[in-house]
Amino acid sequence: MDKPVKQLTSYIQSFSVPFEYPVYFTQHLFAADNPVLAGVADRLKEARRHRFLVFLDAGVAAAHGGLIPCIEQYFDARSTDMTLAAPPEVVPGGERVKNGWEHVHRVVGMINRCRLDRQSYVVAVGGGAVLDMVGFASAIVHRGLRLLRVPTTTLAQNDAGIGVKNGINDQGQKNYVGTFAPPFAVLNDAAFLATLSFEQWIGGIAEAFKVAIIKDAQFFNYLVESAGALKSRDAGAMAEAVRQCAVLHLDHIRDNGDPFEFGSARPLDFGHWAAHKLESMSGYTIGHGQAVSIGIALDAYIAVRQGWMPEDDFLRILGGLTACGLPVWDDRLRQQGPDGSLEILDGLAQFREHLGGDLTITLPLGIGRKTEVNAVAPEDVAAAIGVLQKAAGRPSAQCSECR
Ligand SMILES: NC(=O)c1ccc[n+]([C@@H]2O[C@H](COP(=O)([O-])OP(=O)(O)OC[C@H]3O[C@@H](n4cnc5c(N)ncnc54)[C@H](O)[C@@H]3O)[C@@H](O)[C@H]2O)c1
Ligand SMILES: [Zn+2]
Repeated sequence: MDKPVKQLTSYIQSFSVPFEYPVYFTQHLFAADNPVLAGVADRLKEARRHRFLVFLDAGVAAAHGGLIPCIEQYFDARSTDMTLAAPPEVVPGGERVKNGWEHVHRVVGMINRCRLDRQSYVVAVGGGAVLDMVGFASAIVHRGLRLLRVPTTTLAQNDAGIGVKNGINDQGQKNYVGTFAPPFAVLNDAAFLATLSFEQWIGGIAEAFKVAIIKDAQFFNYLVESAGALKSRDAGAMAEAVRQCAVLHLDHIRDNGDPFEFGSARPLDFGHWAAHKLESMSGYTIGHGQAVSIGIALDAYIAVRQGWMPEDDFLRILGGLTACGLPVWDDRLRQQGPDGSLEILDGLAQFREHLGGDLTITLPLGIGRKTEVNAVAPEDVAAAIGVLQKAAGRPSAQCSECR
């Protein structure tokens, strides 16, 4: 006789947590009379003296000599409501600060020594790399402190600093370790952008092209029309490009239905599979924005070759990026591995692994619209490289006889 099936009990646990954070656009955030930071700290109207730790990108500290005293005076002037738990701490700027755990431990140790609690504020002032590292450290202490991001590059103000992710590079892979942790607030200060190198200044515009090409044809037209102004460091044109790009990113994170990226589709990573690979092939000497620009050009031609986009649109994209002073070629694109295959192709495999599941690549369906594809053939990539190489006026790897 069959044994009776034992009744098992199961419960479906279900709840949702709303997230909300303001993104401010201001100038001179730490000027004595700027109310934004004090207002943000008091956003929840708590009856307490708020405690803060400030971590400052060394590149920002060097370019803005008086910044540390300025920050200290800002807090001193409001000492009944807010206080620094320690003087602002300078951390290295750029990718090296997020290579491995060294600086994460440093931030964690300082938070511990200063006895910050979950209602205290960690302020990260810097480029995307510093924001990613400090954001990660403050997300894991006590399972999350309040993070105030103060992005200081165009790319951090319109993309890296306004979203819900943080991370560090580990196991030889970019962003291998990290969390999804929405910030308490983002404070974009346009005045910081004046001291960026040209590469950093224009780098964020690659992310603006990225989001415009897949989502907003009008914004694409704005970028193309403003290319000369953007290239010649017109602060007004940049402020408008940063703001529109940030809003498109925020809208996407809110409306796409997958803010914590459980699915495989990753539209905001259009152009990024090749970009990430190029960055690591260059030992991170090529800027993220410059790598993204090349990645966009590559994927735009792949979209033409796969029949998703007219060639005219590809040429407009190439023209727009170039007119802004962004690159659409790097010699590493034709670098071959020991087996003779293009090294850049590893980027596709790594992208698939990072997403989990199927490879999903976002490609433009003309300007302002997108589609997802699950296959990119090596021949598509090779053809795109050939076209970009020609556009850049570089000699072909093949001799003219056998071409
Ligand atoms: N978390 C995310 O969602 C997300 C999204 C996109 C990119 N990112 C990450 O962002 C990083 C790239 O960030 P980035 O492009 O902002 O560059 P970055 O953080 O690497 O900084 C580049 C250089 O600019 C300097 N700098 C920063 N602000 C300055 C200023 N105002 N004046 C003078 N120098 C200044 C820095 O010291 C550094 O030397 C990458 O690590 C990328 O992975 C994260
Ligand atoms: Zn990017």
